[in-house]
Amino acid sequence: MLELRNVTFGYKQKQPVLKNVSLSIGAGEFIAIAGRNGSGKTTVTRLLTALKKPNSGTVLLNGEDAAANTPADMARHIGYVFQNPDRQIFRDTVAHETAFGPEQLGFTPKEIEDAVTRALELTGLSDVAESYPPTLSRGQKQRLTIASALAMQPKMLILDEPTSGQDCCERQRLLELLTQLNSQGVAIILVTHDMEILARYPQRVVVMAEGEKVFEGTPRQLFSSSHPIAEWSLSYPTAVAIGQELFPDGSETVMSVDDLCQLLECELGGDR
Ligand SMILES: Nc1ncnc2c1ncn2[C@@H]1O[C@H](COP(=O)(O)OP(=O)(O)OP(=O)(O)O)[C@@H](O)[C@H]1O
Ligand SMILES: [Mg+2]
Repeated sequence: MLELRNVTFGYKQKQPVLKNVSLSIGAGEFIAIAGRNGSGKTTVTRLLTALKKPNSGTVLLNGEDAAANTPADMARHIGYVFQNPDRQIFRDTVAHETAFGPEQLGFTPKEIEDAVTRALELTGLSDVAESYPPTLSRGQKQRLTIASALAMQPKMLILDEPTSGQDCCERQRLLELLTQLNSQGVAIILVTHDMEILARYPQRVVVMAEGEKVFEGTPRQLFSSSHPIAEWSLSYPTAVAIGQELFPDGSETVMSVDDLCQLLECELGGDR
């Protein structure tokens, strides 16, 4: 559905920030992008949304070269939630803010109203529809940027570190929303530093290091093989670390507390 093919990009021509990056995202997938600060994660999302154009290589949307596409063209297909919600919100009420995208896409007034109602319901913001956005909590602002993207009914949602600075209730709420959207067929691309999220939610993880894609695979493949996790500025999720202590020979990889309970039950059951 959306693809980077051998993309090289630099903000200043001489210094490439992305080096020959290829990445393909299929319909309905849930992908996470991780890596240390400055490794190029946000830049990848800017190329995917046509906010930046590659110096070489190709961006493809539904199999076709997207070189001529503007960010507005991409917005019909891809909702983009920025790293900092304050930089994205500019209208006077939550409802008006959410209506902006559908207005730009030329929806009829009735379609706009329906899209806004649905997006605010999904994101739990119906009660604050008439509120002035700057008065919202950080979590609500983040959900407002998601509502604005969802109002355009995209097939794909890109979120750049949406959980950073959120309390755990908001974080949980956001992940439930993303899981729900994904189960409805919306592809999710989540940039995150959160290892617990990385282990549990995505089908596929991409790790960036110094502008290169250095890993692509399942969370289990990432945490069960001998990758330079610390060098990539990642760490083992708690359940994985406990599993490594319990099974130092690597005979089992524990990915979640559920895994751990099951394995321990088997062990205990065996001794009885
Ligand atoms: N607008 C810009 N102009 C020039 N250089 C930039 C610009 N934005 C980012 N860079 C540089 O590009 C590189 C990759 O930055 P990018 O923001 O993509 O990293 P990131 O992985 O998202 O980092 P973080 O985890 O801190 O958000 C960094 O060296 C950064 O300094
Ligand atoms: Mg970033």
